[in-house]
Amino acid sequence: MLRILVLGAAAGGGFPQWNCNCGACRRARAGDSDAVSSHQASVAVSRDGEHWFVLNAAPDLRQQINENPALHPKGGLRGSPIAGVVVTNGDVDAVAGLLNLREGTPFSVYAHERVLRVLRTNSIFNVLDRDLVPRRELPLDRAVPLMLADGTPSGMTIETFAVPGKVALYLEDPAKKGFGSEPGDTVGVHIREEDGGASFFFISSCAHMTPEIAERVKGASLVFFDGTLWADDEMIKAGMGSKTGARMGHMSMSGEAGTIAAFRDLDVARKVFVHINNSNPALLGDSPERRELEAAGWEVGVAGMEITVPDTGTARASAMGGHASATGGHARASGGRAEARISIAVRQTRR
Ligand code: MLT
Ligand code: MN
Ligand code: ZN
Repeated sequence: MLRILVLGAAAGGGFPQWNCNCGACRRARAGDSDAVSSHQASVAVSRDGEHWFVLNAAPDLRQQINENPALHPKGGLRGSPIAGVVVTNGDVDAVAGLLNLREGTPFSVYAHERVLRVLRTNSIFNVLDRDLVPRRELPLDRAVPLMLADGTPSGMTIETFAVPGKVALYLEDPAKKGFGSEPGDTVGVHIREEDGGASFFFISSCAHMTPEIAERVKGASLVFFDGTLWADDEMIKAGMGSKTGARMGHMSMSGEAGTIAAFRDLDVARKVFVHINNSNPALLGDSPERRELEAAGWEVGVAGMEITVPDTGTARASAMGGHASATGGHARASGGRAEARISIAVRQTRR
């Protein structure tokens, strides 16, 4: 079984964003229950409920820890249940939170070499003493064990895979093709429990769906996916910026090439959007866009959401055996089966 805590679901800038006076950000500041404030995207996962791995270190990490008792120090005078941080790209909203984790407690930083290089070449990250905070390289397309701070196995493995995307904004080189982006600058991750078989995907940035990604996530129990924009040109139309989602390395939720359409036949039991920009109308609980995504079986992530993924190995075996007649070969059977076995709880954190 895996326990997952959503620590935040907003894209870079958060919701509301410090300098944004749009209608949605104003509603969030006013405490509107259909415009719930959100930290920047991050989730934490644990197999034993005691040791946690944080996926992406948002600038809000200090507050995210404060709001989640599971991540509070336990026992001795100094220490943390956080055994490691996995960083899936070099964006500010994925790395800045690492700076909150200085102060001499051991944990590991896991990332692709392209992102480890970003950390190495920005000397401010030297506040994380390498002797206490080892950097562990994640190779593409190979499952490696996630280790606890003392070097013992956590019982979970992580496999990273390249997804279409872009190098971090502050590293863009206009003279180079794709702004100098290379495979590994943006990765998706698949975290698996070694014995029970529970697993989930976290893909917090993705420029477009590929047959390879579709094949990977097909039939999954749970996928967190990039929900930056509803429509590719929404920031331009709203007067908030000059870039399309495609230029920023994000696919949109809506449209023929959008995420909702791309997942339609992938039989994923639970689909949760994270990294949602403050310009995205689907952030608002009373918007037609929210209704549309929910009708398509998607959820919008929110801080305080807790998801438990049971041992899908067992679930799959039983559905293919004894319950075969009950599911009757229905195309949605495997999705429905996993869905029934995933429990979800949301604590509404009002800030
Ligand atoms: C992104 O996801 O596109 C980046 O977080 C943008 C940024 O760094 O502002
Ligand atoms: Mn981002
Ligand atoms: Zn706004």
